[in-house]
Amino acid sequence: MDFSVVSDVVVACPHRISPYLKEEVEALGYDIVESFKTGVRIRGSLMDCIRLNLNLRTATQVRYSLHSFRAERPDDIYNLAAKIPWEEIFSPHEKFSVQNSAEHFTLNNTMFINLRVKDAVADRFRSKGLGRPDSGSDAAGVVIHLHWRDDHAELFLDTSGSVISRHGYRRIPGKAPMQESLAAAVVMATQWDRMSPFINPMCGSGTLAIEAALIASGRKPGLIHRDYAFCHLLGYPAEFLDQEREKLKGAILEKEMPLIIASDIRNGAVEDARENARNAGVEHLIQFECADFRMSDIPPQAGVIVLNPEYGERMGELSELENTYKEIGDFFKKRCAGHKGFVFTGNLDLAKKIGLKPSRRIEFFSAQLDCRLLQFELYQGSRKVKNPAEESPSGE
Ligand SMILES: C[S@@+](CC[C@H](N)C(=O)[O-])C[C@H]1O[C@@H](n2cnc3c(N)ncnc32)[C@H](O)[C@@H]1O
Repeated sequence: MDFSVVSDVVVACPHRISPYLKEEVEALGYDIVESFKTGVRIRGSLMDCIRLNLNLRTATQVRYSLHSFRAERPDDIYNLAAKIPWEEIFSPHEKFSVQNSAEHFTLNNTMFINLRVKDAVADRFRSKGLGRPDSGSDAAGVVIHLHWRDDHAELFLDTSGSVISRHGYRRIPGKAPMQESLAAAVVMATQWDRMSPFINPMCGSGTLAIEAALIASGRKPGLIHRDYAFCHLLGYPAEFLDQEREKLKGAILEKEMPLIIASDIRNGAVEDARENARNAGVEHLIQFECADFRMSDIPPQAGVIVLNPEYGERMGELSELENTYKEIGDFFKKRCAGHKGFVFTGNLDLAKKIGLKPSRRIEFFSAQLDCRLLQFELYQGSRKVKNPAEESPSGE
């Protein structure tokens, strides 16, 4: 397979993350051809897919388009898939899987269309006198992705395989952890300048503080994440991957790093966060503390303070939490004047207990829940804030 051939590339991300993904993709020098709720389309080769996989913090998958076509019935998908020269794309000794983002009136169960694509691939190998490659349902080995909406179908090579929204450092997930790509998007949404302090009380497994440290020091996910589906394709240029990783290592910044503090009331959480930070290579950039948020260390230099309290879906009792949210408001007023305060929550009723008017409400999703990142301007003395608009990602 020629890794330099340019085609369409769709970079996928979770709902409401696409503005941050777009920013990252553009910063890497790519023009956006199309933006949608769960990703962006650009032009690029498989070499570009390698770069995108290594560099993007907010993406879930990088998909390289093999063919885009009209399909009215499952048989149209089978017929087209059987014409693709799979034997030039991967060896019959590789395992492969098929995944889809298909919604079509002919499908009761989208697993059925995966099986049709699998049959087409196996029949193609057989017709060339080759053995049938093993297939499975997990994203190990080569991953084929089918998109099918209305009468438009597109077959992709998913070059990521296991989702790259997991950045690979969190071997200890902790209670109610935030997905790493979401935490990176939240740090981007705070518009933190990467020089002033970043304070993360209620840090849990440390995801927000770790993503902040990774961003400030220019460390990209590809330095940690190892297993990509593109490694299973014929013609995969291993030396190019090595060179790109060397470039990432060379781009790490260590001088004049900002103060980053992560604290939690549970000692176990702090130890987990420390271990996760060690895996991410940023333990030395974060100051860890076991503390109740009300007592946590707040430096005098103005910075960003981000709290992700429980919101009663998975942990914590609601009445206790009402008090916690009220105390977050008191903490902001009494101890955080001059800083920018943020609360990430999936419970908007609890958020009202904070008792301060947010200056921004930024929409996110976490674990299928409608969430907000609320920003509070913590002025010395009082100052009126106009009614904030909901900031929703474009297209919603
Ligand atoms: C939803 S979890 C945070 C998850 C975190 N963002 C992550 O990615 O792992 C909330 C955390 O707040 C901590 N917490 C609860 N009450 C606290 C308090 N009064 N002071 C400090 N931390 C507290 C809990 O121990 C828990 O780890």
